[in-house]
Amino acid sequence: MNPVDLARAEIRALKPYASARALADSAGVLLNANENPWPPLGDAGLSLNRYPDPQPAALKRRLAEVYGVDEAQLLITRGSDEGIDLLVRVFCRAGSDRVLICPPCFGMYALSARVQNAEVVEAPLREAERGWELDRSAVEQAAPCRLYFLCSPNNPTGNLIEPETVLDLAGQVADHGLVVIDEAYIEFCERASLAEQVGAQPNLVVLRTLSKAYALAGCRIGAVIAEAGVIDLLRRIIAPYPLPTPSVAAALTALDPAALDRQRDQLARLAELKTTLLAQLHRHPAMTTVWPGEANFVLVRVDDAARLVADAFDAGIRLRDQSGQPGLAGCVRMTIGSEHEMQSLSEFLRHWPT
Ligand SMILES: Cc1ncc(COP(=O)(O)O)c(C=O)c1O
Repeated sequence: MNPVDLARAEIRALKPYASARALADSAGVLLNANENPWPPLGDAGLSLNRYPDPQPAALKRRLAEVYGVDEAQLLITRGSDEGIDLLVRVFCRAGSDRVLICPPCFGMYALSARVQNAEVVEAPLREAERGWELDRSAVEQAAPCRLYFLCSPNNPTGNLIEPETVLDLAGQVADHGLVVIDEAYIEFCERASLAEQVGAQPNLVVLRTLSKAYALAGCRIGAVIAEAGVIDLLRRIIAPYPLPTPSVAAALTALDPAALDRQRDQLARLAELKTTLLAQLHRHPAMTTVWPGEANFVLVRVDDAARLVADAFDAGIRLRDQSGQPGLAGCVRMTIGSEHEMQSLSEFLRHWPT
C-alpha cells in the first residue's frame, strides 16, 4: 500500500499554511512578512530581522548529500523529537490507531503517541546472553499498528537491530503501517544507515539528528528521511518557520568537510574513553551487569540504582537512572564525556560504594 494512504484523511485533505517565505524567495524589497527592516544589534550578518527559509536550501542539499538521499526524501526538523511528533500526528487517528514501541527505549515515542491519544502497544526487547534484542514474535503479536518505532543503536540499551530485520518487518507490515527506525546514535558504530533504503521500501522512515555525533544538541536540528509523499505530508503540519537562522548556520559549519575530520577524531577519542570506562566497570565489584552497547553511553546494573545516581550527584556527576523502564530494575546509564569528565567519573567509581 502507498504509505500516503495510511495518513489521517484530514491531513491528506489539508491545505497547508503558506508562509511568506514559502510563497516567495527572500530577494528584492521584502514587504511581504511584516518584518522589521533593520537587523538587530549583534546580528553578525545573519539577517535575524528576517524570517528564515522554512527548509533552508543549502542545509537541505548538504544533509541529503551526507545521508545519501534525494532532497525530496528529507525534511529538516527541530531535532528528531519533532520528527517523531510529526509522524504520530500525521499517521495516527486519535482514539483508534496504535503505535508500537519496544521498551526499554527512548521515551518520546510513547509520549508523542499519548499526546495524540494513540494507543501505545509494547513489544519489550528481550534480554539475551549477548545483550538486548528485538523480540520479533512480540512485535508480530502487537500488529496491526500504524507506526512501529525501532531504535538502532537503542537508547538506553545500546543494542543494534539488524538492517535485514528492519527491512523484513517493513515489508511484512506494508499493508497497514510504517516502520520508523531511529538512528540518533548510528555515527558511533560501524553500521551503515538504512537511509538509502527508503526509496526501495516506501513505508520505511529513518530518523537522523545532528544532536549527538555532530555536537549540536543546542541547535535542535534533525531529519526525517522517507519516501517523498510521506515527507510532503509531514511538511503540511510542521510549524511555518521551524529552523532558527543561527542553528542553520551552525549546522552548515558542522557539516563542512573540515568539521567532519574533527568529528572523526572526536568519535575515535570517545571510543577510547569508552573502552577505558568499560574496563573499570567490568572490574567493579558493584556492577552486576555491564552492557557496552554501540553508542556514546553504557548501561550498568547495580543493586541500588537510586543510591548510585544520588551518590554521583553529590560528587557533582549526573547519571541517568533507568530503573523505571520495563526490564531495567537497578539500571543506570552513563554517557561518555571528555577526558576530564571521565576522570571525575573514574575517581568517583573507585570509591563507590563507600
Ligand atoms: C534515541 C533517540 N532519539 C531521538 C532523540 C532526540 O534527539 P534530538 O535532539 O534530535 O531531538 C534522542 C535524544 O536523546 C534519542 O536518544
